[in-house]
Amino acid sequence: MTAQLHKLLVRQLRRAYGSPEAAPAGMETLLAVVSQAYADADADRTMIERSLELMSQELTQRNAQLQAELEERQRAREALELKSAEQQALIARLEEAHNQLLQSEKMASIGQLAAGVAHEINNPIGFVASNLSTMQQYAQTVVALVDALAALAPQEAGGLLEQHEWEYLREDMPALLDESGDGIRRVKQIVQDLKDFSHVDERAWQYADLHKGLDSTLNIVANEVKYVADVERQYGELPEVECHASQLNQVFMNVLVNAAHAIKGGPRGRIVVRTSQPDADHVLIEFRDSGSGIAPQHLPRIFDPFFTTKPVGSGTGLGLSLSWGIVRDHGGRIDVESQVGEGTTFRIVLPVQRLAGEAKPDVA
Ligand SMILES: Nc1ncnc2c1ncn2[C@@H]1O[C@H](COP(=O)(O)OP(=O)(O)OP(=O)(O)O)[C@@H](O)[C@H]1O
Ligand SMILES: [Mg+2]
Repeated sequence: MTAQLHKLLVRQLRRAYGSPEAAPAGMETLLAVVSQAYADADADRTMIERSLELMSQELTQRNAQLQAELEERQRAREALELKSAEQQALIARLEEAHNQLLQSEKMASIGQLAAGVAHEINNPIGFVASNLSTMQQYAQTVVALVDALAALAPQEAGGLLEQHEWEYLREDMPALLDESGDGIRRVKQIVQDLKDFSHVDERAWQYADLHKGLDSTLNIVANEVKYVADVERQYGELPEVECHASQLNQVFMNVLVNAAHAIKGGPRGRIVVRTSQPDADHVLIEFRDSGSGIAPQHLPRIFDPFFTTKPVGSGTGLGLSLSWGIVRDHGGRIDVESQVGEGTTFRIVLPVQRLAGEAKPDVA
């Protein structure tokens, strides 16, 4: 009988009577009912505990889910913020690029204008030059004539010649004319350089003499270069190269101006322009400067658009990226080698002939 009783009831009977068996007779039914009540209470508790546990599990799960959702939302917000910042930066870059395009269009039209003016100046310069040279001959004749007349009538001529400072005039007149001739030749050269540099008439690929392009570009940038460096030309033998000469001149100009800027601020430097033909199909144009050099961490970035180490408003950082694009369109490449404090060398290799299949629309 006791074996079937609930253990709590057994314990209580033991406490009351010493042992469950000592319980008074006749209580069996009561004990059985109480024992069942205990068992029922146990079952209820177990069930409540189980459902509490289930609820707690569910709550934990829900909590974790909420946490995950929160984290996901946070991530989404961060991604959105990043995207928005990226878009802002992109918009700023686009604006900058747009301004650059406007600027380069302006430069192109200024170039055309300059070339147009140069063309117009050509005519008057032509006849001034021709008249000057005739004037020089006339002056020689006049000098000879006056000298001859003075020799014929020294008495009469002496006073007049002195009065008009003939000795000084006959010395100074040819010198003045020589000087003017020099001036005219310089103007002619500037006009020619402007025309060569801008190649306004040229719209197609043409065979061009790169030394001519280098010379006219060096003249155009003379003002940037001559106060900071001596330029040494070490020209080798080059065949004519199939190219857009005006675009290549633009490349030479960018590299030369960069070289001058790298020397500026230090002692007077040197820029060596060397040309050679490494093999039958290629030409090499090398620009070596004794400037500040390029820091190793900047080296991989100098051809990136907008990369500049110059103060804000001074460099746009487009020079080398444009140059790189032009050289690439010509099927060539630019290499750079630099040592901080020693200087920098840019090497441009170009194919002599446009490779087949590289034909591009003919735009100047
Ligand atoms: N010869 C050089 N010596 C030293 N640094 C150079 C030289 N050439 C280029 N660099 C570096 O490369 C950077 C990029 O040159 P890039 O010509 O593209 O732009 P920029 O000269 O700064 O501006 P701009 O658009 O006016 O040419 C320069 O700011 C400079 O730091
Ligand atoms: Mg530059």
